[in-house]
Amino acid sequence: MTGASSGIGAACALRLAKAGHRVVGVSRSGVAPEGVAGRVLDIREPEALERGLREIVGDLGGLDALVNSAGVAVGGPLEDTPIDLVRAQLETNLFGATCLIRAAVPYLRDGGGGRLVHVASLAVDVPLPFQALYCAAHAGLNGLCEALRYELGPVGVTVTVVSPGSVRTGLTANRRMAAAGSAYAGAAGKAMAANDRDEEAGIGAERIAAAVEKALGARVPPERVAVAHWHEKASGPLRRVLPERLFRRIIGSHYGI
Ligand SMILES: NC(=O)c1ccc[n+]([C@@H]2O[C@H](COP(=O)([O-])OP(=O)(O)OC[C@H]3O[C@@H](n4cnc5c(N)ncnc54)[C@H](OP(=O)(O)O)[C@@H]3O)[C@@H](O)[C@H]2O)c1
Repeated sequence: MTGASSGIGAACALRLAKAGHRVVGVSRSGVAPEGVAGRVLDIREPEALERGLREIVGDLGGLDALVNSAGVAVGGPLEDTPIDLVRAQLETNLFGATCLIRAAVPYLRDGGGGRLVHVASLAVDVPLPFQALYCAAHAGLNGLCEALRYELGPVGVTVTVVSPGSVRTGLTANRRMAAAGSAYAGAAGKAMAANDRDEEAGIGAERIAAAVEKALGARVPPERVAVAHWHEKASGPLRRVLPERLFRRIIGSHYGI
């Protein structure tokens, strides 16, 4: 379980441990909820990741499932975003998550029937204003998961993408913001304030944990699960029936732009 020190990952790790699973919780801090073995691992470092995973699998005697919820959030206009923040977003949610899945696949395959559960975001279906990098990272990983089903299905590994809407977690306070230049200052401020309000009024992380546990326990795990307030969940299907520009105006007006 990655991202187990906080938010969605912590809720998942706790719930799975309570249900009797042996859970190793991975994060940069190594903090983990009660009943979960915490471990320091930075998913942006491929060599350390492979070494750490090998040791974890050795300790556990195998790997039945990988639940990936490690992530960061960067907000603000793209042109104002310093390269270190561009790197932080893409290296964690896209590159790091890809390296992690790549390293875990042989173990999941060896177990015969391993399960990969990736915590993505509804932002894959409904891109968010002034969070272009965040959306790009999540969309990229979603594409990876979708394509992987062709290669992993025949070798017995299932892939479930769980897409939360707004969730009350540390992500809101931890978000790293690019200071908006004058071309975007008003719009970026309004959009990010609306985004923060949505997250603060979001669902509890336990709802995502319940969906992850259900997916892990299902005889045939779902390929995609959306967990969100109903109005957020409705935005994906709505997008499919509305003209693109109209849909973007509706979303834009929600974000005050
Ligand atoms: N909250 C929401 O509204 C929401 C909605 C949709 C999707 N999501 C997605 O859900 C995932 C989890 O978010 P959250 O809300 O639970 O955020 P969070 O409370 O900030 O938790 C993020 C977790 O990721 C870990 N992490 C960050 N960088 C890492 C790295 N390089 N290596 C290993 N672990 C790392 C953090 O631990 P350390 O700091 O100790 O490393 C922490 O445990 C993210 O991908 C996020 O985009 C969140």
